[in-house]
Order: sequence, then C-alpha cells, then structure tokens
Amino acid sequence: MLKPIYIYHESIDSTNNEIKRLAEDGSAAEFTVVSAGEQTAGRGRSGHVWQSPPGTSIATSILLRPSGVDPERIPRITILSAQAVSDAAEEVTGLVCGIKWPNDVLLNKRKICGILTELCFDRNRAPYMVVGIGVNVTVQTFPPDIADMATSLMLASGKPTEAFSRKAITEKIWDRFLVYYEGFLRTGDLSEIRVPYEDRLVNVNERVRVLDPLGEYEARATGIDNGGRLLVVKDDGTCAAIDSGEVSVRGIYGYA
Ligand code: BTN
Repeated sequence: MLKPIYIYHESIDSTNNEIKRLAEDGSAAEFTVVSAGEQTAGRGRSGHVWQSPPGTSIATSILLRPSGVDPERIPRITILSAQAVSDAAEEVTGLVCGIKWPNDVLLNKRKICGILTELCFDRNRAPYMVVGIGVNVTVQTFPPDIADMATSLMLASGKPTEAFSRKAITEKIWDRFLVYYEGFLRTGDLSEIRVPYEDRLVNVNERVRVLDPLGEYEARATGIDNGGRLLVVKDDGTCAAIDSGEVSVRGIYGYA
C-alpha cells in the first residue's frame, strides 16, 4: 500500500511550486504531499489564477516519480485525481458527484475543485510529476466571473462548517488517489476505474461540441476508453476518441 508523507504550511505561494522546490535536487521522497491553509499565488490551468481563501479551501499537491514518464499519461493521472476527489466529496457531503470530462468535479452541477497536473524535470534532468488539487470546502462566496459555476462542499450540502475537516478530507483524497494510482501502475491504463468514473460522467448520452483544431463538430458522448479519451458518436454515425490534450469539449446545454 502506497503511503503519503504529509507536510503542512499555514500560508504558501502555491503547493505545486513548493513540491517543485522540494523535488528540484532529486532528494524529496515520492508521495510527499504539501498542503496549505492558504495560497498567495495559486495557479490554475492555462495560466489562470486559482483562489485558495484562508481556512475555507483545500490546496494540496503530491510528488510522483512514475518510471518512464510519458506526457500522454498526464490526462490519465488527472482523471484518477477527479475520481478520488469525488469519492471524498461524496463521503463528506452525502451527495452524488458528477464529473464533467475530463476532471471537473461537480456537485449540484457546479464545480467544487480544480486539478493541475504538471510534468517537470529536476536539475539532474530526471522527470517527475506534480498533481495539485484545490477544493472549495466551506467557501461561501466566489469572484463574479465564476460565481454561477462554482460551489463548495458546504454550500452544496447545507451541512454546518463543523462537518468539514480539511485535514480529514485531504487524507481521504490522497488515500483514494494512491489506491487508484497503484492500479494505474499495475495496468498502465484506467481499466480499474473506467466504469465507476463513467457512472459519474455527466457527458454520457449528452450532446457535446468538440473543438477540434481541424474543424469543430457536435456529437453524442458515450463514455471513455482505458486511456481516458472521451468516446463520441458523430451525427454521421462514425465514432471518435477525443484526447483532452488536443481538443476541448464544451457541453452545449449549460455549464455541465
Ligand atoms: C484549474 O484551473 O481548474 C486547476 C486549479 C488547480 C489548483 C490547485 S490548488 C493546489 C495546487 N497548487 C496550485 O497552485 N494549483 C493547484
């Protein structure tokens, strides 16, 4: 059984940045987890800022050193993370999570978490990965630009603040993640979580718009393959497997 090694900071620029600093000389142990009560320079995907307000959200990152790191595997690790966050969120809220492919975890059709997976190289040119997860736990208000698409575990469930231990939720996330990651290392793919992930996938049987650089089109999503690609049936009846690194998919009806 894989075991995380926990480090906690009250305040830090970014837990992903801190993992990178620790990993830089190759000495940090694999599965080191850095968490923080607050991030002053949290980073999201595509260069966006990620807000981690003090005491009300989880900001946590893990160091992975999978042998023979292949950049194509990064989306698979992000999918494992979304599944682990969903398990923890369901346990603490009693609600059922949805996942918008590939890794947006939803409660009541609103996003509760962000995941940033990075492939890096230390000063000896050895590759490693950082998986960073931010979860809105007891956050009550959001900036106007995301207010209609974000929620927190507390807002979604209506449970009181005391129902949420950020430490316990963080530990649950990484416990689940490492179980899934072990399966991923064994099989090299997502076969062990594909079916339960698809049970949460809100895109299944829904129309999606595929923003393919070769030409946008609409299709019906049917699930994922073991590589984490979204499977779709186009209107002409042909099938395609969509790679999140190459194209993005937007639901046509609302955020989810
Ligand atoms: C997204 O844009 O949805 C991804 C957001 C990822 C935020 C997390 S919070 C912990 C870790 N540290 C960071 O600076 N970013 C990630």
